[in-house]
Amino acid sequence: MKTYKLLLLPGDGIGPEIIGEIEKLVRFYREAGIADFATEKALIGGASYDAYGAPLTGKTLKLARDADAVLLVAVGGPKWAGVPFDKRPEAGLLGLRKALGLFANLRPAICYPALADASSLKPELVQGLDMLIVRELIGGVYFGEPKEIVTLENGEKRAVDTQLYTTHEIERIARVAFELARKRAKRVTSAEKHNAMKTGVLWKEVVTRVGADYPDIELNHIFVDNCGMQIVRRPKQFDVIVTDNLFGDILSDVAAMTTGSLGILPSASLGETDPATGKANAMYEPVHGSAPDITGKGIANPIATLSSLSMAFRYSFDLPEESDRLEKAIAGALAKGLRTADIAKPGEATVNTSQMGDAIIAALKESLA
Ligand code: IPM
Ligand code: MN
Repeated sequence: MKTYKLLLLPGDGIGPEIIGEIEKLVRFYREAGIADFATEKALIGGASYDAYGAPLTGKTLKLARDADAVLLVAVGGPKWAGVPFDKRPEAGLLGLRKALGLFANLRPAICYPALADASSLKPELVQGLDMLIVRELIGGVYFGEPKEIVTLENGEKRAVDTQLYTTHEIERIARVAFELARKRAKRVTSAEKHNAMKTGVLWKEVVTRVGADYPDIELNHIFVDNCGMQIVRRPKQFDVIVTDNLFGDILSDVAAMTTGSLGILPSASLGETDPATGKANAMYEPVHGSAPDITGKGIANPIATLSSLSMAFRYSFDLPEESDRLEKAIAGALAKGLRTADIAKPGEATVNTSQMGDAIIAALKESLA
């Protein structure tokens, strides 16, 4: 049985409650003789700020670098609303993504059959939906310099963020999108805003050039505002969408909601593969946030984080069968009617975090029997 080094970063809010379910799953895989995980746990975000005065410490960063994969739940919350901008919980997350070089953020929007009627869209629009947003994660307006608020001579303030992309940053994310499309429905849609932005002009140019290396993949370009509209109009028209950091942040929330709940969707953030070792840094996170409104109640939906672990099986641990098995177990628990509060219809019976986790492990056991 192989041992994988997995760093658990619960973060803030519902993070610690959800990590408990991951720990149960890790025990299950060990006892079933499928895989062993050498897990470590570390602080990030507000929890790290409270303990060390910084949202990301060298210790957490080192553990992340040493791990085969990092699993992070969420950071942030109203408790840290007043902390300085560079010490806010989100700065820890952004700093970790940047330090690990995690440029490719994969955000699938998949509709579990049992949840088609939980969507705010008509069930027939989302039944069978399987789209993948490939978001550039360590460039663009999140990181471009200057990034500041200055006071002008007349006393007015001026805030600047800089949207900035270089050729190679666009090239490498485009390649990820085309490679992934090859294993899917072979369609890439590149979303930008070349009618108003220079970065959009370069983005389109570079993606087109990279696309020439992939004659088997159909490439379309779309203005990102239209893309948002098309996602809520007819989401199934998309296979892979490739887009920049900020647009990807927005589109992935929109796409996620078409599937019924933010509480069920995972993501993978991947760095470049080191040619010497074949290893790539990787972090897996649910798309949802730290949910301060339900923190401590034990009712958060663990599915997005469990599904993120399933992405780790696929992209970091080379265990695609286990990835499929875990996804099937999640779908199975949902098909049995188990619902946490976020995906329950009014009046429907709900289960808590731990019950959902147990049901998924039970489904896994069944599939092995
Ligand atoms: C996300 C989040 C982060 C982002 C925040 C917490 C900085 O919204 O992962 O989508 O904007 O990237
Ligand atoms: Mn977001």
